[in-house]
Amino acid sequence: MTILIINGPNLNMLGTREPDIYGTMTYDELVENLKTYAEDRHIQVDIKQSNLEGIMIDMLHYASHMGFDAVILNAAAFTHYSYALYDAIKAIDLPVFEVHLTDPDTREEPFRHTSVIRDACKATFKGEGLMSYKKAIDAIMESQDA
Ligand code: DQA
Repeated sequence: MTILIINGPNLNMLGTREPDIYGTMTYDELVENLKTYAEDRHIQVDIKQSNLEGIMIDMLHYASHMGFDAVILNAAAFTHYSYALYDAIKAIDLPVFEVHLTDPDTREEPFRHTSVIRDACKATFKGEGLMSYKKAIDAIMESQDA
């Protein structure tokens, strides 16, 4: 099984970015941890990050063209206003799982309480840090077994 994990804007800054909110784990540590988690389960993962909306759209198309089985998407702030990402998720014939380190629905800023991509995604895992991604991997494994 192959999964593409796509991380959006500012997630490359993990470790130093608002550590009171996102913790001190660096982006490289997140990537290494997820690679080990997937390898232990005999899953192939490709993990990508971009600060650019159009590149993230291209990554979603790439997942479809390259025959990945599923996508895990942390669209970061684009979650809250990118109809182009919503359309890209709808355009590909792959299950896309929305993940967030924090729980945007309960954060202070009202703009975070809306996810415009959620309806296009198969499920959402949020508010559990790295575990949000791991739960998405587990859910993909379960859905492929079914
Ligand atoms: C985030 C939550 C978003 O609201 C925010 O813009 C991010 C990260 C998360 O993983 O908690 O950049 O997606």
